[in-house]
Amino acid sequence: MSIEFERKKRSDYEEQLLATAARLLPASARTPTMSLDAAMVVKEGHGSKLTDMSGNTYIDYLLGSGPMFLGHAHPAVVAAVRDYLERGSSYLLPNEPAILLAEEIVEAVPCAERVCYASSGSDSTFFALRLARAFRKRDKILKFEGGYHGQGDHVMMSNQWTKEPGELPAPVPNSEGIPSSVREEVLVAPFNDIERTADLIAKHHDELGAVIVEPMQRTIPPRDGFLQGLRELTAEREIPLVFDEVVTGFRLAYGSAQEYYGVVPDLCAMGKSLSGGHPISVICGSDEIMRFAEGVRKILGGYVALTGTFSGNPISCVAARAVLQELRREGAYDALFAKGRRLMAALQKSLDAAGIPAQVSGEPPAFQPWFTEQAVVDFPSSQSADPMLGFRFSQLLLDRGILKAHEKFFVSMVHSDEDIDLTIEAIEDAVQELKESL
Ligand SMILES: Cc1ncc(COP(=O)(O)O)c(C=O)c1O
Repeated sequence: MSIEFERKKRSDYEEQLLATAARLLPASARTPTMSLDAAMVVKEGHGSKLTDMSGNTYIDYLLGSGPMFLGHAHPAVVAAVRDYLERGSSYLLPNEPAILLAEEIVEAVPCAERVCYASSGSDSTFFALRLARAFRKRDKILKFEGGYHGQGDHVMMSNQWTKEPGELPAPVPNSEGIPSSVREEVLVAPFNDIERTADLIAKHHDELGAVIVEPMQRTIPPRDGFLQGLRELTAEREIPLVFDEVVTGFRLAYGSAQEYYGVVPDLCAMGKSLSGGHPISVICGSDEIMRFAEGVRKILGGYVALTGTFSGNPISCVAARAVLQELRREGAYDALFAKGRRLMAALQKSLDAAGIPAQVSGEPPAFQPWFTEQAVVDFPSSQSADPMLGFRFSQLLLDRGILKAHEKFFVSMVHSDEDIDLTIEAIEDAVQELKESL
């Protein structure tokens, strides 16, 4: 078997569509690498493959930035959605799929006693923080340097793309247009450094409404004891601990990162992997906090507003139920982890053999190469990586029929052994070309 991929030249029609996108869609004309040469318009996706309008079919590790955990157009998801569509798509009112999905989430996720729905991962962290602040009756949040929690003003601070980190705990906004007053409400701590985090919590505990963390921050796993330490520190001070499991939820284990790492937060935000590609996200957690969303509080007082027109819409919920049913299949996670482990090992081995300093970090379902000599264990060490090499490597893979984000590889439940073999071959070839270009 060998990788026989030659990228077809863009068709005139795809060129036209891209030109229209560049003119009309300022935010959505995206490329999977930094190179404009990589720009594509997607025609369709099936299983582990994505095809562009010019007829190039790639093995897909972008997976729509994670949601296509079962691959594209999974037959069980398509059938569930198709069957339901005849009954309508959105009612605002309670519906069977939303209720039955909540039962499944409560059964699966250790912290989940009750569930609210929203539409995107950003919504879910935004609402989780609002609930936490209402419960704790404090305004500030503490997040971690390098952590990404979506686009909300409070969390678009000191995330992975921060070029010039500030003096902790001061946050650095990652976008224009965020009111400067929001900075006053955010403290930033060093990820994976429990001592310095403990100092910050000791100093600011009385102002804190929540501590939010990605249990695996980007692709940096937690150090032994870090999440446990955070759990103890927040529990001691009765500060709600929020896990942002938008990436890790149902991906690292059926019970999510909280099961995988064995630390249970008070609240959790999830999206992507359970969605089957549909707009849905979940806020779940202890009854004590989640009950603030009960409608009756609008009359009695103490209500946290947490609604959305599409929240709990039946189409997204039937899709999610179909996804969870597949994830419950015996051996599903073992097979996923075996594929991810093979890729991680082959990637590190190729880079080492070529003498290119790089660290492959993450967990088998989601990982990335960081082009640096330093072990990547926190935000400052990740900053030592050369992003341009990362972009270049992704481009070289794309030229070999492998589509990934310029950062992560997301492995799906449906990548075949043949996909993995071809990908390893492409990695080895791309690494050689990268080496020759250095
Ligand atoms: C950890 C994490 N939280 C939140 C989000 C935001 O999710 P969405 O893009 O669905 O708003 C993302 C998106 O990449 C994420 O990685």
